[in-house]
Amino acid sequence: MTATYARDGAIAIIEINNPPVNAASAALRAGLADAIGRFAGDDLARVAILQCAGRTWIAGADISEFGKPPQPPLLPDVIAQIEAMPKPVIAAMHGTALGGGLEVALGAHYRIAAAGAEMGLPEVTLGILPGAGGTQRLPRLVGLAPAVDLITSARRIGAEEALKIGLIDRIAEGDLNEAAREYAQSLVDAQAGPRPCAAMAPPQIDEDLVAGLRARLAKRYPGQIAQLRAVDSVVEGGLLPLPEGLAQEREKFTELMDSPQRSALIHAFLSERAVAHLPELEGVLPRDLTQLGVIGGGTMGAGIAASALLSGLAVTLTERDRPAADRAAGTVAGILRGAVKRGKITQSRCDAILAEKFTSADSYDALTDADLIIEAVFEKIEVKQQVFSALDRVAKAGAVLATNTSYLDVDRIAEMTSRPQDVIGLHFFSPAHVMRLLEVVAAGKTAPDVVATGFLLARRLGKIGVRAGNCDGFIGNRILTHYRAAADAMVLDGASPYQIDRAVTAFGFAMGPYAVSDLAGLDIGYFTRQRRAPDRHSRDRIPVFADRLYELGRLGRKTGRGYYIHDEDSPGGREDPELADLLTQVRGELGLVEKSFTDDEIVARYMAAMVNEGARVVADGTALRPLDVDVVMLNGYGFPRWRGGPMHWADQYGLASILKDIEGYSREDDHFWQAAPLLRQLVESGRDFADLNRGKTA
Ligand code: 3HC
Ligand code: NAI
Repeated sequence: MTATYARDGAIAIIEINNPPVNAASAALRAGLADAIGRFAGDDLARVAILQCAGRTWIAGADISEFGKPPQPPLLPDVIAQIEAMPKPVIAAMHGTALGGGLEVALGAHYRIAAAGAEMGLPEVTLGILPGAGGTQRLPRLVGLAPAVDLITSARRIGAEEALKIGLIDRIAEGDLNEAAREYAQSLVDAQAGPRPCAAMAPPQIDEDLVAGLRARLAKRYPGQIAQLRAVDSVVEGGLLPLPEGLAQEREKFTELMDSPQRSALIHAFLSERAVAHLPELEGVLPRDLTQLGVIGGGTMGAGIAASALLSGLAVTLTERDRPAADRAAGTVAGILRGAVKRGKITQSRCDAILAEKFTSADSYDALTDADLIIEAVFEKIEVKQQVFSALDRVAKAGAVLATNTSYLDVDRIAEMTSRPQDVIGLHFFSPAHVMRLLEVVAAGKTAPDVVATGFLLARRLGKIGVRAGNCDGFIGNRILTHYRAAADAMVLDGASPYQIDRAVTAFGFAMGPYAVSDLAGLDIGYFTRQRRAPDRHSRDRIPVFADRLYELGRLGRKTGRGYYIHDEDSPGGREDPELADLLTQVRGELGLVEKSFTDDEIVARYMAAMVNEGARVVADGTALRPLDVDVVMLNGYGFPRWRGGPMHWADQYGLASILKDIEGYSREDDHFWQAAPLLRQLVESGRDFADLNRGKTA
């Protein structure tokens, strides 16, 4: 039973129940339509309350039905049925009223929400637009500007703001269902009639507002279509009666539903949830997680500590000596003050966190109570090994011992302890209090409940945990090393780093690889190359130009110059004419003949390298499935979400085409460009990465 109908006196109560989030599935739509039909036929019922059981109001259309033939009754029809009721219908919302869920409430005649309820139209983040009347009814109810803001930003608003803009009529004081009853009774007493959005005037279209909005959206969401189509739908609807407005909205909705961007964005949404479902963790309980220890309070340690404090965990951070501990404590306090400035926490909450939940120390002895200790010291195996032998002496039995290493072998770190089963890699991304990705690296002897604790930590911090196997660079940095090498090879052969950055940002990446180098610091890449030098193959191509920049002290933003020049006029960086001379000189010294690359060729090589290494990462079990690779690249490496991640993109592009590209490149360099066996197998068997995600084998 997805919807029940009951009556108490003159008040009908329709309760929706479709766990976990009351998604508007075909069954829910049918149940709701049936219950509304009963209300229509119940002469004793004068007002109906629509309410939901469980943790939330309807959280939207059922995303798992997208891409399949629609099953009647369709949501717009059920909403039209509600709106057309000759007797008032009240929507009583709690939890998250999102997308089609909010559209159901817009079809009702009166709206009340619990104080903690949140409302929003997140459709554009899924590559579609509100397709069950949202672009037509919301502007009628709240006016043009607030409506287009909510529809195009996809932001969620709380009950207070919803009341202010007129989206709801009341906020429930105390229990929502009781408050809804009182509201219903007041309508019965007042003999109030229905108040449908359909009867409200369409919004006045302010051409200047719309033109400004379109320009901002095109800049903010380059390449994406849903936001602009949503604006089209609001604007066109503003000139039409509701039925025609709804019809044109549906047309645009269907067009977006069939777009590759929708399929990519839904893939991203579902994959971000699928990564937490690990067969190895079924029935495994995580360990206690209250007190966190962090060792090293530099860039990462301070960010990790702040992220944990903001999520309510208690944190003890240790540094090498008292002055370093004080500096680290200052950095953590600075991050929390930033959260106050951005309205994430209040000043008094910030003060309370720092006074009651945070300690900085200069000795490991302060960590004896910690349930989980994360090491974030220098990226040197000897230093990390020393830290772990010391930790083995002080940490309490059962404490999880984690390293935030970017590349190093977690087994070699674990073997310094008498408890390798408790050791794990927890690879955060910078800035750690902002970036949502957490690679949970299971080493050779890591116990399942330690992996489960890594995932619990991710959830507690509001991050997305992805399981990774232990290898040089885990999932993300290993793939990064590979596509970065493809980019560097193109620079050696004649491409300009600026052209590469421009080509890949035009593809949709947040940044190009050389702008990223400047941001992270060219020293990081230099030291990684030094570390790997002993294992280098004689045919590996060395980015001599990058070493040369490092030797010149051009370390990127922190020194004002790297690939780009960074100064007050251009903090983000501007092109440096001298770089071309340095590149010409390096190519000359290496005896390389310069050639030119088109932007398409640059992107094709960059992506082929990414996908090829992604296939290897999946084949050797470092990533469980292609979707885990996608989630890592989307959330840690600025991959454009509307392209779904490299493996999803590869399926769309065609695995056979990628294989053909790689075979072509291998005629120039058959050392670097070797097709991953998994890629070849998939092409030969006519399968793709999506098949692997569904559990089919290659
Ligand atoms: N359809 C189907 N399943 C959904 C769903 C939806 N709309 N929303 C969530 N789920 C599933 C999740 O996949 C997850 O499944 P799992 O347990 O198998 O992994 C489960 O419900 C719980 O979801 P979360 O882990 O995300 O739970 P949270 O409590 O963290 O968050 C939420 C709850 C805020 C509702 C969040 O799930 C969310 O944002 N959902 C999507 C909301 C949305 O985008 N709605 C708009 C849909 S498009 C639409 O309505 C079109 C319309 O205009 C016609
Ligand atoms: P950092 O140099 O900013 O900070 C390291 C801190 O560790 C310093 O404050 C230092 O005083 C402290 N430290 C060193 N030895 C210590 C010891 N024995 N006990 C206590 N404190 C000690 O380095 P960063 O960038 O924070 O990196 C830390 C780790 O995180 C490295 O392993 C790095 O590879 C990894 N990492 C870095 C990322 C980044 O973007 N910076 C991203 C993800 C991981």
